Amino acid sequence: MDLIHTGAEMRAWSRAARARGERVGFVPTMGYLHEGHLSLCRVAHEHADRVVVSIFVNPTQFAPAEDLSRYPRDEEGDLAKCRAEGVAAVFLPPVEEMYPPGSQTFVTVEELTRGLCGENRPTHFRGVATVVSLLFHLVEPDVAVFGEKDYQQLKVIQRLVRDQAFPVTIVPGPLVREPDGVAMSSRNAYLTEEERRQATVLSRSLFWARDEVAAGRAVDPALAAEVRARIEQAPLAEVDYVSLVDDDDLTPLTEATSRPARIAVAVRFGRTRLLDNVQMVPMGS
Ligand code: PAJ
Repeated sequence: MDLIHTGAEMRAWSRAARARGERVGFVPTMGYLHEGHLSLCRVAHEHADRVVVSIFVNPTQFAPAEDLSRYPRDEEGDLAKCRAEGVAAVFLPPVEEMYPPGSQTFVTVEELTRGLCGENRPTHFRGVATVVSLLFHLVEPDVAVFGEKDYQQLKVIQRLVRDQAFPVTIVPGPLVREPDGVAMSSRNAYLTEEERRQATVLSRSLFWARDEVAAGRAVDPALAAEVRARIEQAPLAEVDYVSLVDDDDLTPLTEATSRPARIAVAVRFGRTRLLDNVQMVPMGS
């Protein structure tokens, strides 16, 4: 497994692979890898001959109040996991490599980033779109895999690639959960024992809604309101949002829909903000 630290080396590596006729798959991450990340490597292997993982804790996507230095890191553990997955190269650029002094160029996806997580974190997706655009220029992948855990992020990247004509195919990877239903996340490491116990309320409430819909219930805002009420029963849960949105373009739904929809939630437990979402497919849709 090759460890690469500069953009120039990364690009040369990728071009050499393609010159040999190999397809390059890419999984961008911020490290502290778990089974969710590794499942994306497996998806990438289905579409590519060589898989590149990037590990870069991207400063521009953190809110000013969020502690970037607090983000969990475990480079040795991450590299061992990548090796075990058969990853061909890990790209670990230092911050100055991605943002040389004087950097002042950002990529902004407009409409799609205003709702959901964009509402309380107005510069977050600008940071994500900027770093992913940079990573695509350096890795030049044929295929890149993004998890449905961060559903709005996946949609933002799909739009970025379409609007900016990046020659890369975006493949979604399914959301991977812990055995008790909690969505896997590097941030789960911050939770106290009691917060972690109560965090199961998110998937339980979302699965309840999905099962209601499977049993014939309408997909409408009342369903999301009930999910919110269920989540609020956990004493430590502070709801940021519980939103019913169109599955495709993320527009908020204000009445019943016959198209696939999604309930997306962001909920704080103490200082930790957790995301989860589930698709709702109305009967007959
Ligand atoms: P990070 O949170 O490390 O996630 C990297 C990738 O793993 C993302 O595509 C995310 O959706 C996916 N992922 C995380 N948890 C998952 C789970 N439980 N199941 C399936 N996929 C999961 O997302 C980022 O980093 C950054 O914003 C990044 C795209 C790397 C840009 O900095």
